[in-house]
Amino acid sequence: MRPAPGGGYLAFGPGKVILLGEHAVVYGGTALAVPIRLGVTAHARPAASCLFRAPAALDRATRRLLLRAFAAAAEAAGRPPVTISVQSTLPMSMGLGSSAAVAVAISGALLRAAAGRAPAAARLRDLAGRMEAVFHGTPSGVDHACSALGGPIAFRRREGRPPRIRRLALRRPLELLVAIAGSRRPTRDTVAALRRRQARWPSRYGRLFQEVGRLAEEGVRAAERGDLESLGDAMNVNHGLLAALGVSSPALDAMAARLRAAGALGAKLTGAGGDGGAVVGLFRDARPAEARLRRAGVTCFRTRVEP
Ligand code: MEV
Repeated sequence: MRPAPGGGYLAFGPGKVILLGEHAVVYGGTALAVPIRLGVTAHARPAASCLFRAPAALDRATRRLLLRAFAAAAEAAGRPPVTISVQSTLPMSMGLGSSAAVAVAISGALLRAAAGRAPAAARLRDLAGRMEAVFHGTPSGVDHACSALGGPIAFRRREGRPPRIRRLALRRPLELLVAIAGSRRPTRDTVAALRRRQARWPSRYGRLFQEVGRLAEEGVRAAERGDLESLGDAMNVNHGLLAALGVSSPALDAMAARLRAAGALGAKLTGAGGDGGAVVGLFRDARPAEARLRRAGVTCFRTRVEP
């Protein structure tokens, strides 16, 4: 939260990558998520009433959804008198937490306007959660928890209780390369299709979810010990399990293989996956791989998570 040049103030919501545990987290497994340097900035300017200026470039359906989500958050924040606009540096709908970043940036701006000071992380997460519920129905909450906290987290959803969220004490920085493998269908469709398979064959899918959750717990311990090789290996195995769950694609598999060939200690799809989206690789030094992929025309960026 900082003053904006020309008046008002700015609130930032970072995007995220899930290093371990997506999809299984919806069913109660642990996930390991980290924020990235790209994200969404909300600009709040004092005004006569509470208004949202949706970006002009949005299609009609997205615009309507965003306005509905804003209305839900504004109502809960007491409709403070500000006009809010947003700007994003995040690739949208690629599994990088763009909707959660929008929700956290807007919620931060609303709460700051309502109370006159930066909100506590729990309040921010709660309000952003109301917006995420409009975007996604019943998300696990890992995306906006990571964005609201702005640090690496272990997240676990619990039935009828608040989620367990632990900020991780990393031993070493995590150097990541995120590569885009192509456009994809919306998260809610991929989550819903997996839910149909899970409902039909609960024991088979339950075993896979359990194994993904265990891998995430092992990965959390590895990250806190600074054992990057073990964390990378857990990411590789997790990618295989995501493929078994039916949420990978030839483009995602090929991009994960490409990152490993370029030196990644581990690489996997990140976020909902489906027919496209993003792949994340863990590196000791991601610069040579980034240069190599860029030369080959791949859209990618480096991001570093500090201890
Ligand atoms: C999406 O970023 C992560 C999923 O696990 C969905 C969720 O947690 O709600 C696929």
